[in-house]
Amino acid sequence: MCGIVGYVGPRPAPELLISSLQRLEYRGYDSAGIAVPDGGGLAVLKSPGKVRTLGDRVRSEWAPALREGARAGIAHTRWATHGPPTQANAHPHCDQSGRIALVHNGIIENYADIRRQLEAQGHTFASQTDSEVLCHLVGEYYRDGDLLQAVCAAMRHAEGTLGIAVLCADRPDQLIIARRGSPIVIGIGDDETVVASDAAAIVAHTNRVIYLNDDDVAVVTAGSVEVRTAQNVPVSREVAKLEWDSEAAEKGGFAHFMLKEIFEQPDAIRNSTRGRLDEGAGTAKLGGLAMAPREIAEIGRMVMVACGTSMHAGLVGRFLFEDLADLPADVEQAAEFRYRNPILSPRDLVLAISQSGETADTLAAVREAKQKGAVIAGLCNVVGSTIARETGRGVYLHAGPEIGVASTKAFTCQVSVLLMMALKFGRCRRLSRDRGVEICRAIAALPDAAARVLEQNDAIAKIAAKYAAIRDIFYIGRGTMYPVALEGALKLKEISYIHAEGYHAAELKHGPIAMLEPVVPVLAIATDTPGREKMVGNIQECRARHSPVIAVVSGDDRQFDDMAADVIRVPACPALTAPIPVAIALQLFAYHVARLKGCEIDQPRNLAKSVTVE
Ligand code: AGP
Ligand code: GLU
Repeated sequence: MCGIVGYVGPRPAPELLISSLQRLEYRGYDSAGIAVPDGGGLAVLKSPGKVRTLGDRVRSEWAPALREGARAGIAHTRWATHGPPTQANAHPHCDQSGRIALVHNGIIENYADIRRQLEAQGHTFASQTDSEVLCHLVGEYYRDGDLLQAVCAAMRHAEGTLGIAVLCADRPDQLIIARRGSPIVIGIGDDETVVASDAAAIVAHTNRVIYLNDDDVAVVTAGSVEVRTAQNVPVSREVAKLEWDSEAAEKGGFAHFMLKEIFEQPDAIRNSTRGRLDEGAGTAKLGGLAMAPREIAEIGRMVMVACGTSMHAGLVGRFLFEDLADLPADVEQAAEFRYRNPILSPRDLVLAISQSGETADTLAAVREAKQKGAVIAGLCNVVGSTIARETGRGVYLHAGPEIGVASTKAFTCQVSVLLMMALKFGRCRRLSRDRGVEICRAIAALPDAAARVLEQNDAIAKIAAKYAAIRDIFYIGRGTMYPVALEGALKLKEISYIHAEGYHAAELKHGPIAMLEPVVPVLAIATDTPGREKMVGNIQECRARHSPVIAVVSGDDRQFDDMAADVIRVPACPALTAPIPVAIALQLFAYHVARLKGCEIDQPRNLAKSVTVE
């Protein structure tokens, strides 16, 4: 997701656009750009890096007459999905004529086909982005000065998600705004209108807003907003009142970025899987891997290298590759891997898992694997990050920026993508089409499963309140729920500073059980997944030592009601996808414990979002 700002009104547009854009930098910040009407044409300025850099360039490169005289414009801070963060790929993009500029938030799935069609008609492109293609498409439909119908026509042709603001040199007093799947808000001021991808950039100017619905298109001038459907039918949208201040608006009204990102997970998982499931063939489409079926069939072993939460996602992925693709799979702590002189073969696929794409140990592991001739790939969230570039192939998460230091949506999106990789690899080996179709459907149901867990937020908060004063806790699980236990314990450690230890449920009796006593609770993951029956015995073991047990169970499973002091319910779902709803429940548990302890949740002490040192 990115930041979009547009303005039409009596004030100088450039400074207002830049200052408003800075309120959105948390949404994406790899590059930025601005476009304003300029003497019958358009002035466009784009720059890699922070909005501040763009602002400095506007002030140094644009004449005062333009800076003070422009009364409309659009601006964008990018979170790259198609093409690395370069000046050329930064928004705004222009159409072939150079008289239409567009900023875009979202992903155009059929952009490659559209680009080929337009190139055949003589269009030339300056970037690698899907957004530039969308702008050329608008320009192609632009006739007789009717920009509105051109945008409507382009929306009907383009597939995927968009939130856009479009400026045309022929009508410097108006913007066309449109939405499908990516939010965009219109702020109604006194003889001025401010549009933005979220309220954080509007609240400083007005608290009267119109939220566009999907497939709405609006013609915006300083004093008017006319909303239509993409079929060009007028509709009326109510003017709502913003209740947030600027800071709250940046977090979407949530108290912390971490909570916002926990609640973003249905959308984040939807974006991670968007356009990647081929239910007809019962497989996944992961073009970024750039591996033919024969290459995939010849892989002898998966070696996942990662750190922290990403390593926990890899530990879940290990089960998936072995179960679905009959592929031996190892997970290596990246720092250990890089110094251990690992034994690799040319048939090994080394997969680097990293949200930031900048973790030093994981990057070093990639370089060591390259040195030893292994095939390498990346699973990153940040497009154009070092690991993404050095692996040269892989799959982007498309989870959107993760600001909270404690990783949440990145983990669930990593597991979702690993599941799609295992599905694809399995279908290049022994996995049947029918089984593949079942798995596609289970993956497609994940956003709803995530949403259903989030409905348990209040119930989980109540349970968390009972444990906010503890000093030690064990998290135990079996199968894929063992790495989920590790991840849940890491979440609690990171943000509440409570000593939480993830352990394999069968291992407890081999020593750690000595620590159990009434003040040491045990969170036991006893969902309807392999190993559940053994969890009954493990929970009994803990109770026999007077440890209170928090049982995480599937749906309305009542077997643990009498055994457990508290029960967290997650929606029943296939074993393959069960790690994701359980992880979300444990994120909420950790969040509420830390909140009740008054901890600094978004920037916990001693931590960095990306560990770029050894
Ligand atoms: C997760 O909550 C932590 N912030 C940390 O463990 C993180 O997962 C680890 O540093 C790896 O980061 P990466 O995914 O960006 O490589
Ligand atoms: N898909 C577009 C790009 O990669 C928009 C990304 C964004 O939402 O910032 O440029």
